[in-house]
Amino acid sequence: MSKHYNNIVVLTGAGISAESGLATFRSSNGLWNNHRVEDVATIDAFERNPEYVHAFYNDMKPELLKAKPNPAHLALAELEHKYDGKVTVVTQNVDTLHEKAGSEKVLHIHGQINQAVCLNCGRVLETWDDVDTQTVCPHCKIAGMMKPNIVFFGESLLCMDEVEKLLRTCDLFVSIGTSGVVYPAAGFVQTAKYFGADTIEFNLETTSNNYLFDKHIFGKSSQTVPEFAAELLKTKNEA
Ligand code: APR
Repeated sequence: MSKHYNNIVVLTGAGISAESGLATFRSSNGLWNNHRVEDVATIDAFERNPEYVHAFYNDMKPELLKAKPNPAHLALAELEHKYDGKVTVVTQNVDTLHEKAGSEKVLHIHGQINQAVCLNCGRVLETWDDVDTQTVCPHCKIAGMMKPNIVFFGESLLCMDEVEKLLRTCDLFVSIGTSGVVYPAAGFVQTAKYFGADTIEFNLETTSNNYLFDKHIFGKSSQTVPEFAAELLKTKNEA
């Protein structure tokens, strides 16, 4: 790696958190092997059985609260703070491992496990405590209108105005630990490529949209990402 980049966008998926002990979605023991998406990750599911959906996300909280960032998260945080250019993480993950590692520019396009949104007033409640159908919104004081601030299938992604701008202006798009099967996130690489960015994919294996990447770095992200970040930190802005 000798090229210097000015504006790097890093899309992360469940794979970057796998070595922190968190389950991915589509691996053999993935979350979607043990629960049906239709039961816990759609608006219909939430309207049909809000208690069950709240319980699914409440049950995830203790493990995600305890989880520690791994060298891949730490390398991205170091890159954001030391690299002579802009580095933004766009994550599909609802864990907070990027923030725990020290990343500050993190856009959670699928929401966050430690947040709930009030369907009455739209305000977001930050909490690691259980949220359920009795929870009172601290802002509008209405009970029973809180929803996990997780983007369900069919809902619009969060932070998309900012993400669109980033995809049009970045000169390097990096994808780490995502299977590339869930759109719109799986299409981000196409937008970045269209607007001229170099594209690199980090994964254990070939993914569904691998043909859109200029380069593939196979291996565990806790090893490959720190190596990549170290190479980038050696480059300087020649301008
Ligand atoms: N290092 C690098 N890649 C890894 C590692 C690792 N240690 N472990 C797993 N992976 C890769 C897998 O090969 C796989 O391609 O991470 C990817 C995880 O894929 P998924 O389980 O499909 O997770 P993700 O791509 O994040 O899912 C996207 O789908 O259900 C929705 O909202 C959910 O955000 C999620 C979205």
